[in-house]
Amino acid sequence: MSKTIIVSNRLPVKIQRNEKKKLEYHSSAGGLATGLGSIYKQGNNLWIGWPGIVTNKKEEKAEITQGIQKESMFPVFLTEEDIRDFYEGFSNETLWPNFHYFNQYAVYEPRLWEAYKRVNRKFADEIIKKTDPDDTLWIHDYQLMLVPDMIRKVHPNVSMGFFLHIPFPSYEIFRLIPWRKEILHGVLGSDLIGFHTYDDMRHFLSSVSRIVGLSNNQGQLVVGNRRVMVDSFPMGIDYDKYAEAAASPEALEREVHYRISLGDQKLILSIDRLDYSKGIPQRLQAFDMFFERYPQYRNKISLILVVVPSRDQVGKYKELKEEIEGLVGRINGKYGKINWTPIHFFYRSFPLGELSAFYRMADVALVTPMRDGMNLVCKEFIASKINRKGVLILSEMCGASKELSDAILINPNDLNQIVEAIYRALTMPEEEQILHNTNMQNSLKRYNISHWVDLFMNSLNIIKEMQSSMQTHKLDDLSLEKMLKEFSKAEKRVIFLDYDGTLTGFVSDPREAKPDEELIDIMRRLAKEPKNSVVVISGRDKDTLQEWMGEFNVDLIAEHGVWTREHSKDWKTVVAMKNTWKKEILPVLELYVNRTPGSFIEEKDFSLVWHYRKVETGLGELRTRELTSHLKYLSSNSNLQVLEGDMVVEIKDREVNKGRTALQWLQSHEHDFVMAIGDDFTDEDTFKAMPKDAYTIKVGSVTSAARFNVNTYKDVRNVLKAMLAY
Ligand code: UDP
Ligand code: G6P
Repeated sequence: MSKTIIVSNRLPVKIQRNEKKKLEYHSSAGGLATGLGSIYKQGNNLWIGWPGIVTNKKEEKAEITQGIQKESMFPVFLTEEDIRDFYEGFSNETLWPNFHYFNQYAVYEPRLWEAYKRVNRKFADEIIKKTDPDDTLWIHDYQLMLVPDMIRKVHPNVSMGFFLHIPFPSYEIFRLIPWRKEILHGVLGSDLIGFHTYDDMRHFLSSVSRIVGLSNNQGQLVVGNRRVMVDSFPMGIDYDKYAEAAASPEALEREVHYRISLGDQKLILSIDRLDYSKGIPQRLQAFDMFFERYPQYRNKISLILVVVPSRDQVGKYKELKEEIEGLVGRINGKYGKINWTPIHFFYRSFPLGELSAFYRMADVALVTPMRDGMNLVCKEFIASKINRKGVLILSEMCGASKELSDAILINPNDLNQIVEAIYRALTMPEEEQILHNTNMQNSLKRYNISHWVDLFMNSLNIIKEMQSSMQTHKLDDLSLEKMLKEFSKAEKRVIFLDYDGTLTGFVSDPREAKPDEELIDIMRRLAKEPKNSVVVISGRDKDTLQEWMGEFNVDLIAEHGVWTREHSKDWKTVVAMKNTWKKEILPVLELYVNRTPGSFIEEKDFSLVWHYRKVETGLGELRTRELTSHLKYLSSNSNLQVLEGDMVVEIKDREVNKGRTALQWLQSHEHDFVMAIGDDFTDEDTFKAMPKDAYTIKVGSVTSAARFNVNTYKDVRNVLKAMLAY
């Protein structure tokens, strides 16, 4: 039985030594752990990562390995040196600042890079030991970007996804990293690469194009002979967990308790890990400015400032902590009264129960990161608003802002804007708050964490299926020899030949592509042999085809299958209208609606329309290209035509395609050898319509429904000449 392995730097468990020096295990309640719980706790599935504790003792390592085994986890132990140079060093002093646009904080030290490679190798080795070739792997985040390629080298066919939880910076920032190319090659070992937002994936694709030299088609890259998909999957939260926690009697009790101490002030909530990317000092400065500008609010509002300790051995984090403490002290000193504290500062982490009470009672959440991959705190705040009252002020620099457009969006560098946003939030009518929160809650309920996990896993399956059905092999001497033998033995040979790009090269004026001497000679000799039935199958109009090919004893299929003509007979056309295909296509469109907030489906009698006018700019266009190609791939044996209109994609009965007409032709002619050669996507229909043992040959690309591929039309001519000479 195949299994799924999740890999992240940190395991979803906290291990601590109690007073008696015994190890205690607390499993993590984090969103990722909850969402992936449905996966890693099943059957033989596993989560591999660092258990978050340093030990050199063999017995203790064995104890931890055993202790977490029952939770389906497996440890990778890091040494103190690993933590210093890989975790605090390259991960958090090189990649983290660079990826969050804090390049002035980034350290580019070869020693740290060596440690990053070494520890990624350590992870890869442990993963490889546990991996079977038909397993599925899902690697998480910036600490492990080299792991996918390391695994791919050992398991060329394993199904592997990678998800980056932090932003991917623009090319101009990413290129500053001396080891940028190795990092990209590392990630490209995956089959599916996921980001939170469309912008992140766009930046990644741009870096891949400029640094590795690979261009993408609808987010798909061809890496060696593997098709790799890049896409955005905005991560959601466990909505019900937060909604239920906020509705629990425990949360209410806590709120009452806090309220007694705080009085009837309005509360503004700020919750983050200690991190310069979160913009905490800027937020405090804006809070200070707010009291300057609106003195009437002194005594009436308080800020609950929760800062969760994080990475405190890294220099910049230590400095930040001091800066925050200084600012809190200054503001409290400046405005505080005996009976009123402007800022209640907590430098620690809270369990869900207490967090939930904070979310519940806060009138305003101030979430103003300078950069954030997604930010879950803002989503949790909205989910906790049982009465739908409360206002979210959200930085446009975090991934969540793309989905939560009903929040008051601010630029975190614009302190004036934050001040005005606080004022607007405090004075917003309740009906307006309810309206905004209802919209945001509906979206968060639908795009929750299990939706995110399912979507990622489904996409990984889709790309794997596509890879296996689109895998071609070079037509090497051995395969050619085999084909020639079968060809020579056969009595009724059928040869489908596309024209442009297959029998001739491309020229700037299509009228100039008429057959040259060599081609005329090949066609004449091929068509003269009574055992051969040659069909030229092209997108060309019937008159041109007849003019160029009519003199040979060949059949013609023109305009992608609209017209057919048996040699020396008249042109014929076949038309039939059906709409039974709709029940197959609807779920596909539904999938795209699920993945693309703002889009919807319109159903007509003989067509389906996918609308994306209300989708995030850029994402709609990208999905259109992807949907169009997905539909083309699916509709090989149906009569559909995919049209791109103004912010819509329409799918209609196409009536005819090359594959359909080729199939009809084949069914009405006896054959014991079938060959089809073509170069563009319309020929894919022909390839898919052919019998399994047919010799289907793609000219150019390595990924196709054809079994074999050759480089250019010149190779095609050589193959045909070899057939004539055999
Ligand atoms: N969190 C927590 N206890 C706290 C403060 C925060 O458990 O005292 C959780 C919070 O509920 C959220 C996570 O920490 O799920 C922070 O995630 P986010 O994406 O907002 O930021 P990150 O820390 O990943 O940068
Ligand atoms: C962010 C990163 C995670 C990381 C978390 C906590 O959310 O994307 O990969 O685990 O912060 O940081 P830490 O350094 O404590 O693991």
